[in-house]
Amino acid sequence: PKIVICGPPAGGKGTQCELLVAKHNVVHLSTGDMLRAAIQANTPLGIEAKKYMDAGDLVPDELIIKVVLARLQEEDCRKQGWLLDGFPRTEPQAKAMLEHKIVPNLVILLNVPDEEVIKRISGRRVDLKTGKTYHITFNPPPPDVEVVQRSDDTEATLITRLEKYHENCGAVIDAFSSTCSLCKVDGMQAKEMVFECIEKDMPRPT
Ligand code: AP5
Ligand code: ZN
Repeated sequence: PKIVICGPPAGGKGTQCELLVAKHNVVHLSTGDMLRAAIQANTPLGIEAKKYMDAGDLVPDELIIKVVLARLQEEDCRKQGWLLDGFPRTEPQAKAMLEHKIVPNLVILLNVPDEEVIKRISGRRVDLKTGKTYHITFNPPPPDVEVVQRSDDTEATLITRLEKYHENCGAVIDAFSSTCSLCKVDGMQAKEMVFECIEKDMPRPT
């Protein structure tokens, strides 16, 4: 399958992607993870992206679109299918995909209210070795796993991240509405229940 997953910051996109990859063996492309890796590696993209990400702002479309479109042409994506997490995030990003005839067969929208986003962000911890995400209350890491807080998971940054999400999400969904099936899920349910809802709408292999 070719899947796009949308939702607010800390909406559970990464969490569902882990389950989707395990089941469907698709290539997981998280633009947030790609940008964080670029920052770690100190590449020109990373250096440029860092100032936006630290402020909770979106990185400019022209920086991210070419990286993602190039990645989607690679062999693993063409063979296994893909799962886009955090892209497209703006109308120009969605239109760029469609202009290049890159059309998902399922668009997932995780609905999670702002109050819950705030709770999830403050408790989120990540294991830098595996990239796995935990939550100090909802999904505590095993005692032997070392976790840290993401540098953009601060209260100040979160307000901007939520604003950017609400400004752009509608236009992204609208861009796909005539060509792709949309699966709107109540993201407040337990992660297993969210996954079950997504699976019901998953296109069956022919
Ligand atoms: P990105 O990394 O995409 O961040 P985000 O959208 O803010 O989303 P998160 O990764 O914070 O959350 P998530 O939805 O994956 O939730 P998770 O599963 O971790 O982007 C970061 C930045 O990069 C952006 O701000 C921007 O600057 C830049 N960027 C990236 N893509 C871009 C683009 N296309 N264009 C421009 N700029 C871009 O879960 C969160 C927490 O909740 C965890 O602790 C988890 O354990 C818990 N949890 C998950 N599901 C449940 C559940 N069902 N019940 C209870 N708890 C749950
Ligand atoms: Zn994520």
